[in-house]
Amino acid sequence: MSVFDISSEGIVTPVGNVHEGVYFLLKSSRFQKDIVANWHDIKTSDRTVNEVWPGLMLVNIPVKRRRRVGERFSEHALVIVMIGEDLLHCDEIQAVSDEYEIESRNILATLEPSMFVAKGEAARLATMLIWMQEDITEVDRRLNELQSMSLELSESYEELSLLYKLSANMRVNKEPADFLQNACSELQQVLGVRWLAIQLIDNDPRLEDLSGQLVTAGEYDHKIQCIQEIGKYLMLRMCDEEHSVVYEDTAILDVPLIHKLAKTLLIVPIRFEGKQLGILYGGEKQEGTHINTIDVKLCDSLVNSMSIFLGNMMLYEDAQAMFFGTLHALTNAIDAKDSYTHGHSERVALMSRNLAEAAGLDSHTVERTYIAGLLHDVGKIGVPESVLCKPGRLTPSEFDQIKMHPEIGARILQDIRQMNDLIPGVLCHHERWDGLGYPNNLAGDQIPLMGRVIGLADAFDAMSSNRTYRRALDLNQVLDEIIRCKGKQFDPELADIFVNLDFKPFFDLINKHQEHQKIAS
Ligand SMILES: [Fe+2]
Repeated sequence: MSVFDISSEGIVTPVGNVHEGVYFLLKSSRFQKDIVANWHDIKTSDRTVNEVWPGLMLVNIPVKRRRRVGERFSEHALVIVMIGEDLLHCDEIQAVSDEYEIESRNILATLEPSMFVAKGEAARLATMLIWMQEDITEVDRRLNELQSMSLELSESYEELSLLYKLSANMRVNKEPADFLQNACSELQQVLGVRWLAIQLIDNDPRLEDLSGQLVTAGEYDHKIQCIQEIGKYLMLRMCDEEHSVVYEDTAILDVPLIHKLAKTLLIVPIRFEGKQLGILYGGEKQEGTHINTIDVKLCDSLVNSMSIFLGNMMLYEDAQAMFFGTLHALTNAIDAKDSYTHGHSERVALMSRNLAEAAGLDSHTVERTYIAGLLHDVGKIGVPESVLCKPGRLTPSEFDQIKMHPEIGARILQDIRQMNDLIPGVLCHHERWDGLGYPNNLAGDQIPLMGRVIGLADAFDAMSSNRTYRRALDLNQVLDEIIRCKGKQFDPELADIFVNLDFKPFFDLINKHQEHQKIAS
């Protein structure tokens, strides 16, 4: 069997090793003429085997081939040629021998008996060969598919590994500036650009320290102020743009400063819920490479994560501001029940936080102690105003009513899951180190630390501010009293730390509250 490429013009080209005798026949002008005459039939016939001459059988291998020849397309067929015994007696052999002017028996001598295929066998053989060809085509198709999939995979891998690294850093309590710097440096390396920068807006207080910040990575010849100036210019230019833009030649921007910095530039807007938060821009890939669609896709994915991070940070700030706003409103409402305790909760919260910090507690506990300090007297909501604001001495039963406020406060917070950890501070701020406090007569280490801290700050504020029954003591008197009562009313270690605190913020707050009261009255 031999394989040939045959064109619609009858041109025969051997594919691989072919039998010379068969090739000799197929090169003849008689064969060429018969191919041209029967081309349509050969290409479209349903038959597996096309017998062009008696005993000369072509098996069409279904591979589409078209080539441009001058102004038109030349059709091609890939065929397997099989020969049968009928070829020995057909008239066409005589025509070929006449053309080459040789004896027909010399031609026939080249065809060995072992080559002949019976007619029935030819059809079966052809079917098997076509199946094999189909299998090979399928294998080829899958190989191509596999190659394109592995290319896509390697592109996705870079994107995924970058996003993975960033998501590991995307915690709200992670320093946002570190997150942005990390993202910028990683992306600059993955993209292979000479430099990359992130410029953020400066008109949203929720961005806090990040407001107006510029983050850069890579190398640039310009001063940092120049990069920032360009960032602000691009931010204005892209203020309504939602999609990335690539400038293959920055001359088109008509800004010489940008053109000097980078001939090619990639700009990606950073947006959250339709609002512009900033811009990512960078340029100058290595010689001979361009910013391509994969680079843009990667930047888009990263900027998307970055937008979510910044957006979450802003939402968190919003939620925090609302939470503290509500807390202050609530504590102000409690303090307002008694004009002498105006600002008391805020001052107790401040000194509780400062004491907790100086005692070496972790930042989370310090913050929670501050909130518990704000809420420590929330239970006074349940004490009648006539008792709370009563001038002069309280009767024992009135005093008992006042003593209920830590427990009422704890019950109020009990139903708010996020505030359960504040309950020990609220419930135990009137316990005493010697066990003579209330409501549970706890002593020493039995009293939760948060309760001991707030209790000290509470007593300090009570002594330092005017009351219905006495004027405020001066600072030295108060501190002496605290030292005198350490080990009795107060935790001795905390008392020693407390007297060494900075009291300026406390007196600033007292002045602020007095100013407010003057304005209110
Ligand atoms: Fe209290």
